[in-house]
Amino acid sequence: MRKIVINGGNRISGKVTISGAKNSVVALIPATILANDVVTLEGVPDISDVTSLIDIMDVMGAKIERDVEAGVLVIDTRDVKSMPLPYGKINSLRASYYFNGALLGRFGRATVGLPGGCDLGPRPIDLHIKAFEALGAEMSFLENAMHLEAKKDSLFGTTIYMDMVSVGATINTMLAASTAEGMTIIENAAREPEIIDVATLLNNMGAKVRGAGTDVIRIQGTKKLHGARHTVIPDRIEAGTYLALAAAIGDGVTVDNVIFEHLDSFIAKLEEMGVRMTIREDSIEVHKSENLKAVNIKTVPYPGFATDLQQPITPLLLSTNGRGWIMDTIYEKRVNHVPEMARMGAKISVINDKIVYDAPNLLTGTQVKATDLRAGAGLVVAGAIASGTTTISNIDFILRGYDSIIEKMTALGVDIKLIEE
Ligand code: EPZ
Repeated sequence: MRKIVINGGNRISGKVTISGAKNSVVALIPATILANDVVTLEGVPDISDVTSLIDIMDVMGAKIERDVEAGVLVIDTRDVKSMPLPYGKINSLRASYYFNGALLGRFGRATVGLPGGCDLGPRPIDLHIKAFEALGAEMSFLENAMHLEAKKDSLFGTTIYMDMVSVGATINTMLAASTAEGMTIIENAAREPEIIDVATLLNNMGAKVRGAGTDVIRIQGTKKLHGARHTVIPDRIEAGTYLALAAAIGDGVTVDNVIFEHLDSFIAKLEEMGVRMTIREDSIEVHKSENLKAVNIKTVPYPGFATDLQQPITPLLLSTNGRGWIMDTIYEKRVNHVPEMARMGAKISVINDKIVYDAPNLLTGTQVKATDLRAGAGLVVAGAIASGTTTISNIDFILRGYDSIIEKMTALGVDIKLIEE
């Protein structure tokens, strides 16, 4: 079993460069199926979710060349077949649901097992299914997997109102609709930067997606797409994680390769706490910050405060002064980090689906468990702040989404290592 061991308490400084966005790349890789050609992705992070998707694509017949060091992935999807994908890696990550939209768009059918991913409470995919059905697909279960089949020769564009703002359902609908006949209009679409990134790749492949980044997206179906070259946007969640760490224990840390507009609501919270920063074109320098103020956080869809950042910012909140709360309106049960941080001495608890904390806390290292990806990232930040040794188990969750976390943290001055037991 692999574990992360951190001897906390060091002050940190220097520069960390942010990798390509996990939640973009996990959609971009399945999207390449629609090209039926060669697509080159640059800025691909070295995370295990990417490896899992490559393994699945390989089973389907894609030819893939990967230069991990350079972050380049060349994917030839000409020989891809729409075969049943009921088990295995499919069930290990959430983003495998993008194979439904991509295969449906290219072949008019898809048989894909139910997605896995982090346990954040209920994570239904009813909106994805409703959208596929609205486009003219029929859903059934085959070999324990969800089977989708276009009722006619192709899918047909239509207007789809999303009952909830959903990143996954918006992207999946864009994928399936790219090659449908006629115009698809997605209303109440999610506006995350990752959606714009996927739309950009689709457009580079010849699709006609307009309005991504607003809540109405129009997709004029295009029968045949083609190869393209695309660079993945920087990971705003990874950036936020390092910004939180730098605000807590930094003596001057530059977080490089960021699009600060993607972090507006997060930066606003840091400013409210009293964190001092210099924002440059594509980097943010966090200066040594003291006497920070406790704040309240409510997570909402983009451009509001991201649910994916509430766990990584929690240790920073714990080192402020005062009482505050976090309310996650996207995943009310995304609170698994709370008992772990409480075991490190944090005065934090869940009261009626609200995380309530009293600060400042003197965190002390102990044995903790990463229950999910962002909870794990929060524990790494907590371990770096805490005095003594923190040993984190279940770290595969963390490696699913954080590129070279040990190397990047070490370069900043965190005493951290990965051990095999
Ligand atoms: C994406 O998940 C991200 N995952 C998540 O990041 C992120 O937390 C989430 O968006 C919200 O920003 C990927 O991009 C792979 P949603 P997704 O559909 O698309 C409800 C991380 O740590 N809903 O936007 O699955 C849902 O339950 C991960 O990197 C339905 O009710 O999330 C939630 O309350 C974790 N029915 C809300 O909508 C549906 O069919 C938003 O979920 C779909 C969603």
